[in-house]
Amino acid sequence: MNHILITGGAGFIGSHVVRHFVQHYPQYRIVNVDALTYAGHLENVADVQQAPNYCFVQADIGDFSTMCHLMEQHAITAIIHLAAESHVDRSIGDPFLFARTNVLGTLSLLEAARCTWGGNWQGKRFYHISTDEVYGALPLEENMRFTERTPYAPHSPYSASKAASDHFVRAYRDTYGMPILISNCSNNYGPYQHPEKLIPLCIDCICRRRPIPVYGKGENVRDWLHVQDHARAIDTIFHHGLPGRTYNIGADNEWSNLALIHLLIETTDRLLSRPPGSSSALIRFVADRPGHDLRYAIDASRLRQELGWHPAIPFREGIEATVRWYLEHEVWLRTITNHTLRCNTCQNN
Ligand SMILES: NC(=O)c1ccc[n+]([C@@H]2O[C@H](COP(=O)([O-])OP(=O)(O)OC[C@H]3O[C@@H](n4cnc5c(N)ncnc54)[C@H](O)[C@@H]3O)[C@@H](O)[C@H]2O)c1
Repeated sequence: MNHILITGGAGFIGSHVVRHFVQHYPQYRIVNVDALTYAGHLENVADVQQAPNYCFVQADIGDFSTMCHLMEQHAITAIIHLAAESHVDRSIGDPFLFARTNVLGTLSLLEAARCTWGGNWQGKRFYHISTDEVYGALPLEENMRFTERTPYAPHSPYSASKAASDHFVRAYRDTYGMPILISNCSNNYGPYQHPEKLIPLCIDCICRRRPIPVYGKGENVRDWLHVQDHARAIDTIFHHGLPGRTYNIGADNEWSNLALIHLLIETTDRLLSRPPGSSSALIRFVADRPGHDLRYAIDASRLRQELGWHPAIPFREGIEATVRWYLEHEVWLRTITNHTLRCNTCQNN
């Protein structure tokens, strides 16, 4: 019987992973631990809060004694670790916060697992959810992609903190024999993503006829995956991945930021019955992000060939459903935006 601690389950990806495991595995016990920072909202998991196999605990993963207590209290047998500071722009302004949460927070969880499981690794798993950004940047013109053997070369404080946490997780495998799993995934999109991120930000700007900021010339390329395909990949790796192994997750779906923004404009204008493409006038090119990686592209053939996972949601369909979701969840969007503004004000005072 799996008793799974899912960290960061009130955030974007974590909420989909929590929902997926609660609904698909009624025999498991799911303990969602989240500090509810500006990025975490219980509204994101409201539909499972009454489920008998689910409970929520508000706590900071960096609080080692609380993590040990939770592991014992709930007889945790596996951890799926998603809690993190996740926004690259914020990492440029406050790198310490990213090191505290992403590096020390992960270390705190690893130590809590090591102390609680006491070297009895039978039936245990520590699964770290990571990003393709640890691999650095690829050139635009060449057909290269990140594999699991690509050397780490992070450029932002965010990706450096995720790279450091990946290294700590592997060190626990090599030093203590902990059965770990790591997956490095490309950019996710879908419902419940915080409106500071590119896709919801654009949809919101288009709806409100506000300027759409585009870094540099909009040439940067990202490889996009629907968050529900990511949740299914996590399920596959959790149940069938080889302990100690790393898996890349991606959908072979590269888009330049500018091309993606035009797709969002075309979709949103159509759904709002506006003249096609009329919102293109809202595009504003702004100074590029420092250290902005040019291109990410994931080779997920290990996951496809060894574990049989494939993305199921075609991108244009996923984008249309996502735009519809944001149009229908105006209250959610305003609640999250206002809460974030309040959090930012508190931090700055
Ligand atoms: N978003 C992507 O495209 C993407 C792609 C690949 C990997 N990832 C990774 O997936 C994970 C989730 O990303 P996301 O986009 O859902 O992030 P998010 O910012 O939407 O959610 C992060 C969650 O972690 C919680 N959290 C933050 N600090 C915490 C702490 N100290 N203790 C407990 N909880 C804390 C927040 O409250 C929030 O609920 C992250 O580890 C991220 O690096 C994200």
